Amino acid sequence: NNFGAIKLEISMKKPKILVTRKWPEKVETKLSESYDVTFNNNDIALNTNDFCEALKKYDAILPTVTDKMPKKIFEVANIRTQILGNYGVGYAHIDISTAKSLGITVTNTPDVLSDCTADITLTLMLMAARRAGEGEREVRANQWEGWRPTHLVGTKLTGKTLGIIGFGRIGQEVAKRAHFGFGMKIVVQNRSKIGNDILIRTNAHQVDNLDELLETSDFISLHCPGGDDNHHLISTKQFKKMKNSAILINTARGEVVDDNALILALKSKEISAVGLDVFNNEPNINPELIKFENAILLPHLGSATQETREAMGFRVLDNIADFFEGKVPRDKVA
Ligand code: DGY
Repeated sequence: NNFGAIKLEISMKKPKILVTRKWPEKVETKLSESYDVTFNNNDIALNTNDFCEALKKYDAILPTVTDKMPKKIFEVANIRTQILGNYGVGYAHIDISTAKSLGITVTNTPDVLSDCTADITLTLMLMAARRAGEGEREVRANQWEGWRPTHLVGTKLTGKTLGIIGFGRIGQEVAKRAHFGFGMKIVVQNRSKIGNDILIRTNAHQVDNLDELLETSDFISLHCPGGDDNHHLISTKQFKKMKNSAILINTARGEVVDDNALILALKSKEISAVGLDVFNNEPNINPELIKFENAILLPHLGSATQETREAMGFRVLDNIADFFEGKVPRDKVA
């Protein structure tokens, strides 16, 4: 009968999905097999108005770190969106509590990017310690005068103390590489107590307060979430606690570091170098930072490998598949 046909049609209707940025081809292809998808082929970030309209039109929006989704974008009538399947592990760009209050599920993509983000952390540590940026610029500028005992002398990683702030999945991967690869001593600071079974893997020691870590570390690497909770966690007072030989690495979120305090610390040689993969106000970074030879600056490359970017996409697919099948997605954060 007619009723049966209508019911069948409804149950076969594919959810309408919006992907906010260009994704790896393999994942886009897979996504289009199961859903009615709108892709962002020209890869231009959506604006506030686009998001308000999208919330009324799509069952799922798949945003990423470049999509700011504050409270005001949710202030629209007749929201259709039921799930925000974020492509990325960090989700401070989404007003989670507002989404939650509206009954919108939010998921992220942990685990799959821990290796590559840890790799980029080590890249920055090595580049900063061994003055690789300066060296590369010198060679490219045709200014290399040849080997000499005092040329671009840096500092050694092996045997040094690495202070890790935020000992989640990425922090632990960094510890593994630093401890087993470079014999580094690992000190960690984390909001909650880390289990002994985890600390023991890299012979890590958890300190009670940040100051203790800052005072004793040769390298300090940030792996805590961004957002209000950790806004300017590293500012003037914290730079003053660091050794003058310290190297600060940020692969977490730009807002964790107070740029003005960092610039002053570099100017007054309160620290020796910095390696940044994330910035306040990306991609419009503070132009002062570019002036420092001892600042290694990467354009948010932490997860940027083919393998990881595909894995992140497939993880979003798993999350929304669970959701539309009525299950709780494995990476539900709200
Ligand atoms: C994330 O996942 O939060 C990164 O910043 C981008 O991979």
